[in-house]
Amino acid sequence: VPRGPLLGRHVIVTSGPTHEPIDPVRYIANRSSGAQGTAIATALRDLGARVSFVTGPASIAPPEGVDVIRVETAREMREAVSEALPADAAVMAAAVADWRVTNAGARKIKKDGSGKPPALEMTENPDILAWVSGLHKRRPALVVGFAAETHEVIENATAKRQRKGCDWIVANDVSPATGIMGGTENAVTLIRDGGAEEWPRMGKDAVARRLAKEIAEALT
Ligand code: C5P
Repeated sequence: VPRGPLLGRHVIVTSGPTHEPIDPVRYIANRSSGAQGTAIATALRDLGARVSFVTGPASIAPPEGVDVIRVETAREMREAVSEALPADAAVMAAAVADWRVTNAGARKIKKDGSGKPPALEMTENPDILAWVSGLHKRRPALVVGFAAETHEVIENATAKRQRKGCDWIVANDVSPATGIMGGTENAVTLIRDGGAEEWPRMGKDAVARRLAKEIAEALT
């Protein structure tokens, strides 16, 4: 019998990278593994939530017992989030590509013999976190974003929270020396109205469980 403080609640979690096509066989991507987003979806599920897990092409498997919506591009991700609404909370843990190629080839781009590489034209992708935070009727009661920073973590993340209009920001220091990017541990600061709360370094699963608990408390 399912139970838990989030029973009857619906939470959308975005996770993983996005892939932005250059032509039918090539794309622009990033190194996100989807580990933190997957752990958050798992922790929310374990507290009883119905989870819509909107994931880009991640390198690790999605959790069992959640609704998995697989997408490739940022635009597909926004569409999938839109279709998954309404929700009580949204946790945007995806590493969405900032730009997409506007002149993507319908066919594989060939070397033309001139020695000159093709010029890729790019445009900014929609900011899904800012968009969902700015919704009126359909805005989830709690919108959580992430901020991966390499310096002045709290200052930058606080500004990001303002700019994007989300309720909470989970900020972390991804300087190479921390070993966090691509690692199993994370050291985060949770920024919300009341101020910044620095959590000790712990496993990504433990960060996810603590965040899920905070979300459950905020929704009750
Ligand atoms: O602006 P930046 O990419 O640093 O912001 C990170 C936060 O915004 C993350 O929560 C990420 O999932 C979200 N984001 C988004 N759509 C974008 C870019 C970022 O939802 N196009």
